Amino acid sequence: MNDSVLSALNVCHRFDQNSVPIIDNFNLEVHAGEKVALIGRSGSGKTTLLHLLSGLKHSQSGTICINQRAHDSLSDKARAYLRCHAIGFVYQTFNLMQDFSAIENIALAAVVAGLSHQKAQVKAEQIMQQLNIDHLAPRNTNSLSGGEKQRVAIGRAIINQPDILFADEPTGNLDRDSADQVMQTLTQCQRISNMALIMATHDHALVKHFDKIIDLNDVT
Ligand SMILES: Nc1ncnc2c1ncn2[C@@H]1O[C@H](COP(=O)(O)OP(=O)(O)OP(=O)(O)O)[C@@H](O)[C@H]1O
Ligand SMILES: [Mg+2]
Repeated sequence: MNDSVLSALNVCHRFDQNSVPIIDNFNLEVHAGEKVALIGRSGSGKTTLLHLLSGLKHSQSGTICINQRAHDSLSDKARAYLRCHAIGFVYQTFNLMQDFSAIENIALAAVVAGLSHQKAQVKAEQIMQQLNIDHLAPRNTNSLSGGEKQRVAIGRAIINQPDILFADEPTGNLDRDSADQVMQTLTQCQRISNMALIMATHDHALVKHFDKIIDLNDVT
């Protein structure tokens, strides 16, 4: 059985015609449950690559498949479905909705994916228990620490049980202890649901958690 959840074949991207490619002939195959770290100096293209792989940005050439279907072959409807159900994304700056509670932030992602408010609330409670953040449920996200915000953002990213979780320097704004706790949360989610995890990081202390390490200083 082919358990490929993501493949990238000869992917190239440049931001304008005359510049050198940021991503040049990039190839990758990721299987269910695999953990891949993207490392490389600032400006080496980690964020760009995560946006290409997750379909947030179109590549100029090459093919990217999620669950063995090429991004480019999908209708807008199929692409929207894929974004809601197959992909989760965690950002360095959390991107939570301010003035909403932690549980509202998580539940809303399930509502957007089609669940009723009531079912989304129940599912969000379960996720928060699973991640040991249920005590944060009623808290306004403005009042949370960086590490707490990031664990809520992880809950939001996984509530629709994605096949792949993308994370762009999710520990970049955190101190060592919070970074380790967030990494623990990520690997715990990944283990429980056998998601693939593709994460950009500057933090060399974290690469031991990964099966595959791609250094963009070498490949681009
Ligand atoms: N929209 C854009 N237009 C033009 N150039 C861009 C754009 N977005 C990114 N770049 C350039 O592409 C290169 C790669 O940027 P990217 O954000 O992917 O790097 P990164 O590895 O994520 O860096 P960091 O570690 O600082 O987050 C940089 O030189 C950046 O200036
Ligand atoms: Mg970046």
